[in-house]
Amino acid sequence: MAPSSPPPPPSPSTSTSSSPLKGEGRKKEGLGWIEWIRGWLYVIHEMLFQRILASHLQNPLPLPPVNDLTCIVTGSTSGIGREIARQLAEAGAHVVMAVRNVRAGSELIQKWQTEWAGKGLPLNIEVMELDLLSLESVVRFAEAWNATSRPLNVLINNAGIFAIGEPQKFSRDGYEEHMQVNHLAPALLSILLLPSLIRGSPSRIVNVNSVVSHLATFSVKLVL
Ligand SMILES: NC(=O)c1ccc[n+]([C@@H]2O[C@H](COP(=O)([O-])OP(=O)(O)OC[C@H]3O[C@@H](n4cnc5c(N)ncnc54)[C@H](OP(=O)(O)O)[C@@H]3O)[C@@H](O)[C@H]2O)c1
Repeated sequence: MAPSSPPPPPSPSTSTSSSPLKGEGRKKEGLGWIEWIRGWLYVIHEMLFQRILASHLQNPLPLPPVNDLTCIVTGSTSGIGREIARQLAEAGAHVVMAVRNVRAGSELIQKWQTEWAGKGLPLNIEVMELDLLSLESVVRFAEAWNATSRPLNVLINNAGIFAIGEPQKFSRDGYEEHMQVNHLAPALLSILLLPSLIRGSPSRIVNVNSVVSHLATFSVKLVL
């Protein structure tokens, strides 16, 4: 995903080429004016009205019992993922926190177990190491999970980064970090966990995304 910028006015030099995968020397396509304005309206609408439109909902939303579900939640040591993991566990799911900081994950589990004591059975929650900045770590995680032969019902690809204004950085695998953490590694994880997801069918992969994706541009460069 690339940060948005106003697209240049349509001109013959930026119009769609008849052979889209020519690669070298081809200008990066921007969004058309209409898509760009529509994208911004969507983002502004979310920013202004999300809370108002959701104000009638209970917070947290009560979940039905999900005792039969096994869910892997990536990036569950903070933010949205942390809340997803806790609420799913409290609703009875078997939750696997897939996190890069195993110690922080274990400390959270201890805290949640203590807070939950006396309200029901102990939470069925565990932590496994996953660093999306390393494709080797993704493979290791999937191998460790698949070795258990346990069915997986829900994979929640929540972990993500958004380092605005920072210098561009690359992973050891050679990919731009946002590209790897937000897209490539979750895609690899999803593919490697497919056998387990199929065993847990009907199963789901949930990708936590951003409305800003409406402003993304995408270009393909084919190196022959
Ligand atoms: N909050 C928003 O307003 C918003 C808006 C649009 C989209 N989103 C998306 O929602 C998701 C969660 O956002 P959030 O606001 O909850 O973010 P957050 O609080 O920064 O949490 C991100 C989580 O991702 C984990 N993570 C980062 N790099 C990782 C890596 N290399 N390997 C494994 N885990 C990694 C972090 O781990 P550590 O705890 O170890 O740092 C953290 O647990 C993200 O995908 C984000 O793009 C959020």
